[in-house]
Amino acid sequence: MSQASQRIPATLLTGDGIGPEIVHATRRILEALGAPFDWDEQPAGLGAMETHGDPLPECTLESIRRTQLALKGPLTTPVGSGIRSINVRLREEFQLYANLRPARSIVDGGRFDDIDLVLVRENLEGFYVGYEHYIPVNGDPKAVAESAGINTREGCRRIAKWTFDYAVRNGRKKVTIVHKANILKKLTGLFLESAQEIGKDYADQLTIEERIVDNCAMQLVLNPWQFDVLLTTNLFGDILSDEIAGLVGGLGMAPGGNIGKDAAIFEAVHGSAPDIAGKGIANPCALLLASAMMLDHVDHHEDAERLRKALRATIVEDRVRTGDLGGTASTEAFADALIQRL
Ligand code: NAI
Ligand code: MG
Repeated sequence: MSQASQRIPATLLTGDGIGPEIVHATRRILEALGAPFDWDEQPAGLGAMETHGDPLPECTLESIRRTQLALKGPLTTPVGSGIRSINVRLREEFQLYANLRPARSIVDGGRFDDIDLVLVRENLEGFYVGYEHYIPVNGDPKAVAESAGINTREGCRRIAKWTFDYAVRNGRKKVTIVHKANILKKLTGLFLESAQEIGKDYADQLTIEERIVDNCAMQLVLNPWQFDVLLTTNLFGDILSDEIAGLVGGLGMAPGGNIGKDAAIFEAVHGSAPDIAGKGIANPCALLLASAMMLDHVDHHEDAERLRKALRATIVEDRVRTGDLGGTASTEAFADALIQRL
């Protein structure tokens, strides 16, 4: 009980574009909820590029090292400057090996109702290690492109264990290992084999299945309810996590968490939406749902559930919605309505 009154330091990256608008709304709502976070606001993204000459300045990294917890607004990756993706830098810097992407139906009457899926994507290995090069032939500098995927037994076992523990902790029943071990026999074969081996320790608590990725993609559209937790490699996870976001109404409602041993960063899946930035009409729900994941992460499950319930009631019962969900509410009007619900 004493935990409930304890404050938790957390880094806040406001981000670019619609970032300040949805972060402002989210902060107000979290305050009304009585969330335990003490925010340390730090620069990141295009804004930080202008003020600090680096989209991910040292002071920001320092803050996350200290708090080990962050909420991140969308960041604009400057195009054409050769600067590496800030998201990739953060994942590598803090070894955030698990990417957690839940997808739950909130807005009813969509293509699929009652979806409750969780995808866990390995976040550091596979084809995203970026070992790529061209091989010149006969004066054509780009005659051949070669890319290497790297999966390590250690990395595969680590993500598998994390996923099974997550599934048990959250009362999930089934984990489906998604792979392409029929073709990429070694790269994704090692992933499948490691996950199955780790899975033996969970056999009395979870049903563990495997599915080939292309079949899984089709099954997700035909009958998404057959799945519970999906565990997969970096590239397949990138693709399938967007697919499951699509099942529940798209990017405006999709939160994500990047989690490692020493830090966790929660964010909306969408970007900085420059086309609507500054208009006060952005949907703050994805960042709010990311905040709920963050509350779960620090074991404030009641607050997390209250936030999700109020959000659902605002959208479904009060029918207050931003434009992307077919409504007319501004970001702040949506926040006001949600605070009423709290
Ligand atoms: P985007 O997600 O920013 O926008 C795609 C479309 O969805 C736009 O029409 C936008 O108006 C709409 N949209 C996105 N979020 C919304 C919200 N909360 N409410 C209402 N409508 C919303 O993707 P885009 O345009 O490809 O990328 C813009 C910038 O964001 C780029 O610089 C990109 O690098 C960056 N980005 C950053 C991410 C991150 O920080 N995690 C993720 C994806 C993109
Ligand atoms: Mg993606």
